[in-house]
Amino acid sequence: MPYAHITGWGISVPEPVLTNDDIAKMVETSDEWIRDRTGIRERRIAREDQFTSTLAVEASIKALEVANLAPTELDLIIVSSSTPEYIFPATACIVQDQIGATKAGAFDLLAACSGFVFAANMAAQSIRSGSIKNALVIGSETLSRFTNWKDRNTCILFGDGAGAFVIQASDQPGGILSAVMRSDGSGADSLTLLGGGARHPATEATVHEGKHYIQMDGKAVFRFATRVMGSATKEALELAGLTTTDVDWVIPHQANYRIIETAAKYLKLPLEKFVINVDRYGNTSTASIPIAAVEAIEKGNLKSGDKVVFVGFGAGLTWGALVAEWTGPIPTKRHVYPKQYRLFARLRSLVRRALRFIEGLFSRREL
Ligand SMILES: CC(C)(COP(=O)(O)OP(=O)(O)OC[C@H]1O[C@@H](n2cnc3c(N)ncnc32)[C@H](O)[C@@H]1OP(=O)(O)O)[C@@H](O)C(=O)NCCC(=O)NCCS
Repeated sequence: MPYAHITGWGISVPEPVLTNDDIAKMVETSDEWIRDRTGIRERRIAREDQFTSTLAVEASIKALEVANLAPTELDLIIVSSSTPEYIFPATACIVQDQIGATKAGAFDLLAACSGFVFAANMAAQSIRSGSIKNALVIGSETLSRFTNWKDRNTCILFGDGAGAFVIQASDQPGGILSAVMRSDGSGADSLTLLGGGARHPATEATVHEGKHYIQMDGKAVFRFATRVMGSATKEALELAGLTTTDVDWVIPHQANYRIIETAAKYLKLPLEKFVINVDRYGNTSTASIPIAAVEAIEKGNLKSGDKVVFVGFGAGLTWGALVAEWTGPIPTKRHVYPKQYRLFARLRSLVRRALRFIEGLFSRREL
């Protein structure tokens, strides 16, 4: 049975920064209140011309560069997002077309802030079964588009960004060792975005009622999060035959500093073992785990052989944890330049659209 290794990583965060002081100009709040209750100082907000796919594509190209893998070698692309570009087509298909992943199956996965853990586990399972070799897993969000900038309960929390992992088959032991995925729909009401789906299709009324904005029962989510972070971590470690004493790094979903602190206490692990960057990006939902991971990797914190736990929770309710033994890129002498495939991808996309148009003309005549 092949092992599934994380061999490439990349992030993309928009440059525009929105500070707590900026938010204090929009709603009644203060930098001090937000920092005290959440640990957040600032977050990134996508420019008008940046979309969930834009960020996802940038993060993906970087991840493919690190893995030294051509997009044409990808078998599977999963985009985890709660803010997909459309209900359909899947954002993953837009990414597939733009990076030139000619033979990859692509789909979106919606498990809110737990989505990256779920998606990485799905990719790892497909690799371990032997059905695929190379997967690209992306967490990408433009939450600012669904944020009510008049609601101080929610607008202080969220930010935009994307992170991507390349996961590849290898005979070398290690890589993704175990994972748990859990859900509890009885808590669905705690964190919602109700408008625009089949139950509440967009109408003037849904817009008027604010149904296209994120709504949250902050206290209920806080209680749930502090309960499940620790338990999921322990369960995943047990499945991998490990205990908390084996853990080198925990890379948690970045929702709130106090939630992470509570999880650390529950697990009896020092906070120094937790990668925390919620202060600079806020809650980027499914993108938060890969963004934190990539920052830790680029600082040189993750060493080969380190045992790393990725743990997330979010709307659904959903939660999950994934344990990996860190190895890094698969050594190879060849050099691929994934960025160069973008030009090829654009041309290919244009040609295919033109051919589809011409085919349409002829088939109309046949009818
Ligand atoms: C949202 C959150 C920061 C609120 O913190 P809290 O300590 O629970 O605050 P409360 O909602 O109890 O509000 C306390 C007071 O502050 C006020 N308040 C709420 N938001 C405020 C803000 N942005 N600025 C200033 N005051 C605020 C409330 O109105 C309330 O005032 P009152 O006591 O006069 O009624 C916290 O509940 C949280 O982080 N929850 C988890 C959210 C999360 O992680 N969601 C994403 C999951 S993926």
